[in-house]
Amino acid sequence: MTDPYRPRRSVLYVPAANDKALAKIATLACDAVIIDLEDGILPADKAAARDKLAGILATRPKRRCEMLVRINPLASEWGADDLLAASKAEADGILLPKIGTPRDILEAGDLLDDNFAPDSVKLWAMIETPKALLNIGAIAELGRDPASRLACFVAGTNDLAKATGTLVTPDRRYLMPWLMQLVLAARAGGLHVIDGVANDFRDLDAFARECAEGAAMGFDGKSVIHPNQIEPANRAFSPSPEAITAARTITDAFARPENVGKGVIAMDGRMVERLHLSEAEKLLAKAAIIGA
Ligand code: COA
Ligand code: MG
Repeated sequence: MTDPYRPRRSVLYVPAANDKALAKIATLACDAVIIDLEDGILPADKAAARDKLAGILATRPKRRCEMLVRINPLASEWGADDLLAASKAEADGILLPKIGTPRDILEAGDLLDDNFAPDSVKLWAMIETPKALLNIGAIAELGRDPASRLACFVAGTNDLAKATGTLVTPDRRYLMPWLMQLVLAARAGGLHVIDGVANDFRDLDAFARECAEGAAMGFDGKSVIHPNQIEPANRAFSPSPEAITAARTITDAFARPENVGKGVIAMDGRMVERLHLSEAEKLLAKAAIIGA
């Protein structure tokens, strides 16, 4: 995990061809924006969309908001030019679609290195193919090597459902094993991991439920496609007031003189260990960063 905590609660897709949506970015409270050159852009418009990147990134919000570019696959006719244009436009990160193996990440990293892209340009990976899921442990392992630039996984649930023939139900029950595997792999590699999109952007009750579920599963944030989804995602992936109170109770308890030398204490009939203390400290630090 990137240290200190970097909020990635709401990650908003904006198609590079949608000028009205692009103009709105500066007014929105999302933690990250993904300027999309891939699925949201028709082949005939790809080159024109790429040419707009520098202008789009030059007007990035003043507040804290990561700006990413989702490029076309490197193997496609557009991929390499997209990658270099995104790096030149000083994107914070480049989101690689349809990856399958660690090699796909390494190739993108090599291309960035060969073109003297600063280390600050990170790579994010869409996990949306069966092959990527089968190789997820090896891909995640790259997160342990800063030279790989890999920082974050994004679940591509629409493509995954399409590629596997899996039915997407409101409770996402058939996708669940893969999503949990993705969270596990991300943690093993020290990466952030973002849940997939909810296509029905008018149903905010269903969206709030899906965000709560994603947070409980261990995701760091949610992919969002519409401004109305930002606030519910930010809320679901922030520590709740109850969680902050509970964390303070734990840090206070361990700070008491009688507990200073103890590895484990009892609190209201529950065992609380030092691992809970570090978890509580982490949660409070996260809440402070989000609040700041
Ligand atoms: N980013 C920024 N602004 C957006 C936005 C987005 N992703 N989606 C909608 N908006 C803006 C609209 O431009 C509109 O702005 P206005 O208030 O200035 O008129 C406002 O939010 C309300 O939009 P609304 O009319 O409800 O939706 P729409 O019909 O304009 O757009 C979608 C609906 C789905 C086409 C649009 O949300 C979208 O393109 N989302 C991203 C899809 C995408 O990137 N998919 C690929 C990755 S999964
Ligand atoms: Mg996709």
